[in-house]
Amino acid sequence: MTTLIRGAFGPQPMTSSFAPAPPGGPGLVIAVISPKGGTGKTTLATTLAARFSAAHPDPRVPAVALADLNLSFGDVALALDLAVTTDISALSEGSAGTAVDRVLLRHPRGVHVLAAPTDPAIAEGVSPAACAIAVRQLAHTHTTVVLDTAPGLPELTLLAMELADLVVLPVSTDPAALKSTRAALECLAELGLTGDRLRVVVNRVGPGRGPRARDVASALGVPISADLPYSAELSLAAERRRILGWDWPEHPYSQAVGRLAADLAGVDVPARNPGVRGWLRKAAS
Ligand SMILES: Nc1ncnc2c1ncn2[C@@H]1O[C@H](COP(=O)(O)OP(=O)(O)O)[C@@H](O)[C@H]1O
Ligand SMILES: [Mg+2]
Repeated sequence: MTTLIRGAFGPQPMTSSFAPAPPGGPGLVIAVISPKGGTGKTTLATTLAARFSAAHPDPRVPAVALADLNLSFGDVALALDLAVTTDISALSEGSAGTAVDRVLLRHPRGVHVLAAPTDPAIAEGVSPAACAIAVRQLAHTHTTVVLDTAPGLPELTLLAMELADLVVLPVSTDPAALKSTRAALECLAELGLTGDRLRVVVNRVGPGRGPRARDVASALGVPISADLPYSAELSLAAERRRILGWDWPEHPYSQAVGRLAADLAGVDVPARNPGVRGWLRKAAS
């Protein structure tokens, strides 16, 4: 089924600038994408990683990996309060044999982070091929791999979507975000990314009431998989380098992301490792 799902996205690499990477491993790869900045991608990616790792019942089970593919301006390490002592630029294109494991930052609560370079000039030198190899290695060594991405649909985000089993697209409810998302969904449909592999979620980044999820669904022409509530506590938590998904699991935002995590884990993506899927289903809080 992996092949079917990946195949549905198109048999060819989306650009010719990178060679197809070897097949991924048994880990579930989830890409968080959005045409706009500020729609909550990084917050959602880190909270998903937190909810997956919180469901970790057995220290022998490989941890959750979170890769920051917003190479120039990524802030995943900052969000998790990790010092960037090494990053993805340490993996070069010719180093397929270099274990990605050696450049991961390890969060004490079980998430392994592949950080973006802190210098955008260095980020420019990181090739998509090196990123593809890294993600596929992570899928071999981790149960879940969450990919955060840069705003828009740059080449690396297209690659992330190609590598992912599932793609999550948070949309804020302001008219500009809805308009951009609608246009992006048309592009994604042309590229073959629809239906089973795509989850559009409403993320209420502002305090107003905003449109109902069902109105967003009809404006976008796609089902809405989750409705993430406005949470003033998120910015407070970020200031204190806290992660709501870990430090306040009962919070409505953590709960909503937990349900989304359970949905993502429960999807009959590839029949690759049923034991792993069973563990992932416990991600619901
Ligand atoms: N559901 C939410 N409620 C309130 N604020 C949110 C919510 N989701 C995200 N935010 C805030 O929105 C801002 C942008 O979020 P971020 O995850 O950095 O977006 P992106 O990665 O898409 O640019 C951050 O200050 C974050 O705390
Ligand atoms: Mg971000």
